[in-house]
Amino acid sequence: MSQDKNEWGSNLSFILAMIGSAVGLGNIWRYPYVLYSNGGGAFYIPYIVAILLMGIPFLILEYGVGYNYKSSFAKAIKKINVKWEYLGWFLPVAVFMIMIYYSAILGWDGIYMILSFTKGWGADPNAFFSTTLLQSSESVSSLLNFIPIIAIAMLVGWVIIWFISHRDLEEGLGKVSKVLVPLLFLIMVVIVGFSLTLPGASIGLAELFNPDWSLLFNFNIWMAAFGQIIFSLSLGMSIAFTYASYTKDGSDLITNTISIALANSLFENFAALGVFSILGYMSMQSGTAVADLVTQGTGLVFVVYPTVFNVLGDWAYVLGPLFFITVYLAGLTSILSTIEPLSFSIQNKFGLTRSRTMTILIAVGAIVSMLYATAFGGFLLGVVDTFINQIAILIGVVAECIVFAWIFKAEKLIDFLNSKSKTLKLGKWWLLIVKYVLPIVVTIIWIGGMVDVISNGTFEQLVFTLISAAVLLIATLIFTILPAKNPEWDNAEERV
Ligand code: PFF
Repeated sequence: MSQDKNEWGSNLSFILAMIGSAVGLGNIWRYPYVLYSNGGGAFYIPYIVAILLMGIPFLILEYGVGYNYKSSFAKAIKKINVKWEYLGWFLPVAVFMIMIYYSAILGWDGIYMILSFTKGWGADPNAFFSTTLLQSSESVSSLLNFIPIIAIAMLVGWVIIWFISHRDLEEGLGKVSKVLVPLLFLIMVVIVGFSLTLPGASIGLAELFNPDWSLLFNFNIWMAAFGQIIFSLSLGMSIAFTYASYTKDGSDLITNTISIALANSLFENFAALGVFSILGYMSMQSGTAVADLVTQGTGLVFVVYPTVFNVLGDWAYVLGPLFFITVYLAGLTSILSTIEPLSFSIQNKFGLTRSRTMTILIAVGAIVSMLYATAFGGFLLGVVDTFINQIAILIGVVAECIVFAWIFKAEKLIDFLNSKSKTLKLGKWWLLIVKYVLPIVVTIIWIGGMVDVISNGTFEQLVFTLISAAVLLIATLIFTILPAKNPEWDNAEERV
């Protein structure tokens, strides 16, 4: 396996691919709601604190260690301390599980992209989404109720992913990011520009930003801000690590981190302007309060937006397709990143080529993802998503802090990172954050997530959470104990 198959052609490819990973569904369907329901304008204080205290310092750490090793996450972790190899597989497998369910959302969005040309969801978008399309059911037997149209849409997505990912890194992901990420920002500007001119937009925006300062003393909004930043910047998912290991010698990682965090925040705040202008318009047309319209997740994208397009007249035939294309591009550039950590780790341990590893992983992913093309899929997706994001990844973030900041020793990176940085310079404050503040804050968020899953989950949800956990732990164990086939596996060189 030649290493250059896994190297960015330029710093621009690295930054754009990383922005592509960060800017995803979380920015479009999660952030506007989180901002609104956690104090509106007042949310900016915890949000900015979370970016400065956690987002940027943690990304710098993940990048720094990834850059140092120029090898996959599993290989580097094993080099740092052989007892931690399990963690080296745990995160890449967890992120690959995200990929599998993300492919379903991408498939649904692909269907809506086509429907939007004719408003094919009909007069009742809610019934269309959950009953006609997903045929949603919480009964396990509905796993046998296969929905071919969803399967086809998902397979189209997998073919696109294969087409991009099985090539050498720069030929596939690098080039595609350079086209799709700017395109994504451009279309978003058009959509938001249009939305702001709609009558009633100001009602929605006033509602969104109206600050509720009293909430600043509420613990939950601080947790919401930190949770949003972890998800939105894809922190601690071994993606940033892998992308940095693909860089050429001498990148300015600190300045790159700041650019990526800024671009991500710019995009999500822009998305919030668009979402709330549209809700303001809808509120004026229907006489329903914005508070009763606003929602997040699939409800926002596949129910509220189609409802708005239904009352928007002919403009909807332009805005609708543009909107669903934006969601598709945002999802695609994120999903492409979710295969990289596991793929690179497998290449390193088992000596397979990038192309063959990608083909195998994508075939496995596509087959397993068919679980989501059943009437049980919507329910399953919710459970796996909550488990991975509220529990598994947070364990990974804390473990990464311990391994990188304490065992690897983050101080080793400071001189190198500072010598390349044209902007911020690291000092003792950074060590204090990555060694103490981050592990403590993330542990608190993790406890909150666990309590939520256990106390609010139904019996079926708990059972499927445990099954997801078992799948993750067993797959991780298998990768850890399988003997290495590549003589280079024990030989992770250091660059710093
Ligand atoms: N950061 C992405 C978003 O905000 O939508 C979500 C994401 C991407 C999560 C990649 C996980 C991941 F591995």
